[in-house]
Amino acid sequence: MLIIAHRGASGHFPENTLLSFEEAIKTGAKAIELDIHACKTGELVVIHDDTVNRTTNKKGNIDNYSLLDLNKLNAGKNEKIPSLLEVLNLVNSRAKINIELKGKGTGKKLAAFLTDYCKAHNIKHSNFYISSFRHNELKTFHHLAPDFPIGILYHFYPRHFVMLAKKLKAHSINVSFSALSSTLVNKIHSHNLEVWVYTVNTIEQYHKVERLGVDAVFTNFPKLFVESRKK
Ligand code: G3P
Ligand code: MG
Repeated sequence: MLIIAHRGASGHFPENTLLSFEEAIKTGAKAIELDIHACKTGELVVIHDDTVNRTTNKKGNIDNYSLLDLNKLNAGKNEKIPSLLEVLNLVNSRAKINIELKGKGTGKKLAAFLTDYCKAHNIKHSNFYISSFRHNELKTFHHLAPDFPIGILYHFYPRHFVMLAKKLKAHSINVSFSALSSTLVNKIHSHNLEVWVYTVNTIEQYHKVERLGVDAVFTNFPKLFVESRKK
């Protein structure tokens, strides 16, 4: 089962920061997850919310900030909101990266950005997974960049995923821990799709998803799970 560091090692470090991603990789996580929005000057930046209110020392919408101005904010422990480019350069192929399309318009922007980045750095498209609750953004992304693996995110129980999964040639169905059951795991697997589960933060939950045959888990505590595996 793949352990994915959710917003980095965000249980111990400020979420979606270079520090959080570096710590996750150091602890042995083979994959990280991050969220993207576009800022006022058009660059893709790594932050969960569409405002800076919760995670920094300032207020306002992401799309009202230039990249230069975002750089001045403190996202915790003197970390800044990184651009997607900075995170990719930091990771430097040491871990796979699940990029979650949060903001409107990110599907189109990411398709161009990631295609160029992979070409320039000679990185395989399979080093990335692209996911979103915004299924229209996934459609736009897949139309423009069809070779990247896609994960379809669902807030609740995914009832009708088959058609969309076919259209997107999806790799996984990404479901919340609360929606999980063995029936659902079997149903998703019967369509040759993986089951990825967010957000699993205790050892008890970890053992449960393992028993159910889940393929990947998102966790804020990657170190806890990586170490429990060694025992
Ligand atoms: O992709 C899993 C998880 O990140 C989805 O929820 O709100 O943490 O982005 P959220
Ligand atoms: Mg996310």
